[in-house]
Amino acid sequence: LSEENQSILSAHEWLQKLYHHLLRFTKDGKEGYQYLIDRGIKQETIDLFQLGFAPNVKDFTAEFLEKKGFHQQVLVKAGLLSLRDDDTVADRFRGRVIFPIRNHLGKTVAFGGRAIAGQEPKYLNSPESDLFQKGKLLYNFDQAKKHIRSSGEAILLEGYMDVIAAFQAGVKNVIATLGTSLTENQAKLLRRYVDTVVVCYDSDNAGTEAAYKAANLLRQVGCKVKVARMEDGMDPDDYIKAYGANAFTDKVIKASDTYMSFYMRYMKKDYNLNLEGDRINYLEIVLKQLAVIDNAVEREYYVKELSREYGLTMDTLNQEILKIRQNMG
Ligand code: CTP
Ligand code: MN
Ligand code: MN
Ligand code: MN
Ligand code: MN
Repeated sequence: LSEENQSILSAHEWLQKLYHHLLRFTKDGKEGYQYLIDRGIKQETIDLFQLGFAPNVKDFTAEFLEKKGFHQQVLVKAGLLSLRDDDTVADRFRGRVIFPIRNHLGKTVAFGGRAIAGQEPKYLNSPESDLFQKGKLLYNFDQAKKHIRSSGEAILLEGYMDVIAAFQAGVKNVIATLGTSLTENQAKLLRRYVDTVVVCYDSDNAGTEAAYKAANLLRQVGCKVKVARMEDGMDPDDYIKAYGANAFTDKVIKASDTYMSFYMRYMKKDYNLNLEGDRINYLEIVLKQLAVIDNAVEREYYVKELSREYGLTMDTLNQEILKIRQNMG
């Protein structure tokens, strides 16, 4: 590690402690603390994730770290301070609840900040750096790793609040991408630890699109993929709050769809199944997807379902699948 990067790690360590202390024990951090409590986060969870608060002061962080002897230039590079037009610096995180983002070794390499008074953007992360590359890091991987290993399954969520809510509820094999789509790098990392990944993104258009992409990527690297489903508009944090941990485990995670079921439902959006032509085209892509399933029992299961739903004989569907399989070689 370069001297500069060591200094950046050290600055993060100091700041994490400071922000956490402010949130837990001071008047300045009270609104951050209250915000988390109101969202159902318990004190022990706040401590476990070292959540903090950055006060709404222009140069609070700058002054603190300067007194500790850190070089301004380094702090700007780390994205903890931002350089303004007049060459003065200002704190990056102001009036935000702070989520330390740790790498796989458990070292804090970045922060995420959530606005609590309606500022935009709602979430602000540290910029990318040598030490922090969003596409290479999975939030909470350091804590989830052993649970992922022992359960043989990883549950992939969208954001920090989802991970924290699930973890607090006892579902501990949870990790998140940070507001971006899953990358091949992250998929491969997961593959090293598990066979099965349950994708449980937000139940909105963006979440469903992202889930489709993530699921395909995970399959490409050899994971078995399942896709969870919640009522429209909900995310895991909302769901756990509304229905509790057991419902989340039993009705969302354990009840998650196979990739094939997800695919069949997801693809419907591109077709008007009241039209004969669309129906045929839809069936064609679904059969193509079915054809790559090697397990005959599994194939048969979906063939039966399609046969029922579209009034075609299983024979016809199987013949078509066979043809596709032969063409694949
Ligand atoms: N995120 C991010 N940067 C953004 C937007 C989102 O890093 N500009 C990440 C955050 O980790 C966030 C996650 O993506 O937790 C999910 O985003 P979103 O679903 O929009 O968050 P909400 O569930 O709406 O957030 P909250 O529940 O706090 O209102
Ligand atoms: Mn949102
Ligand atoms: Mn979302
Ligand atoms: Mn969400
Ligand atoms: Mn949410």
